[in-house]
Amino acid sequence: MSELVVKQVTKSFANKKVLDDVSFTIKEGEFVSLLGPSGSGKSTLFHLIGGLYRPDTGTFYLDGERINGKRGAISYTPQSPSLFPWRTIIDNVVLGAEIFAKPDVDQARAMLKKAGLADYEDAYPHHLSGGMRQRVAFVRSLLSPQSFICLDEPFSALDEFTRLEMQKWLLSIWEENRKSVLFVTHNIEEAIYLSDRIIILSNNPATVKREIQVPFERPRQEALLLTDEFLQWKRDIYQELRVF
Ligand SMILES: Nc1ncnc2c1ncn2[C@@H]1O[C@H](COP(=O)(O)OP(=O)(O)O)[C@@H](O)[C@H]1O
Ligand SMILES: [Mg+2]
Repeated sequence: MSELVVKQVTKSFANKKVLDDVSFTIKEGEFVSLLGPSGSGKSTLFHLIGGLYRPDTGTFYLDGERINGKRGAISYTPQSPSLFPWRTIIDNVVLGAEIFAKPDVDQARAMLKKAGLADYEDAYPHHLSGGMRQRVAFVRSLLSPQSFICLDEPFSALDEFTRLEMQKWLLSIWEENRKSVLFVTHNIEEAIYLSDRIIILSNNPATVKREIQVPFERPRQEALLLTDEFLQWKRDIYQELRVF
């Protein structure tokens, strides 16, 4: 069971209202993207869900339990994920699981292999490229016991080709576990390709502008990205984001 309810959340910094009456629900096993322009308040919302900040008003519920300001309720991977430099890759990925119970090292090895990191189990984070570290952080959040995962623009620093490879990899892993995911992005194509549903935020302050149920069936193939229907959705959402 894992359902997140965001109810009438408002947040200001100093005199600037960043989030205004934001409400939405993410259901069990759903992959939802939170899409909005840079500076619209996506990371702020993400930190609120992760319990790093508290809202001025409003409530976050995970499976009915109020989690305002509570850390550790969800698996939360920030924009630049931190790995512990003194731990090897395998020891980094089992960390989330280790805090709660005995980690399943065989499963961790299998996932690292799937992420193309089989040869790096015993390496240290500084031996890896940025994209590889990002994958390690993913594997860690997938292995953590929380069934709700929050990712903040995990692919924004990657070039187009690496990004597509990572998206395909994420989808293939997600198809197997089907944890609930809230995926923060400013990339329209990425939001459509990955998600069951897209929540579009307006800017200054952010409110939920529109929710879109993505009609494409799974598993999704790369060829989908060039279909007329996909490009039509991309244009629609682009228009939606352009007009503030
Ligand atoms: N800790 C903070 N203190 C003051 N202002 C902040 C803080 N965090 C974010 N902001 C402001 O809130 C707005 C939204 O930022 P952010 O949530 O990072 O946007 P996004 O992730 O959508 O790019 C920006 O104007 C930013 O400057
Ligand atoms: Mg951000």
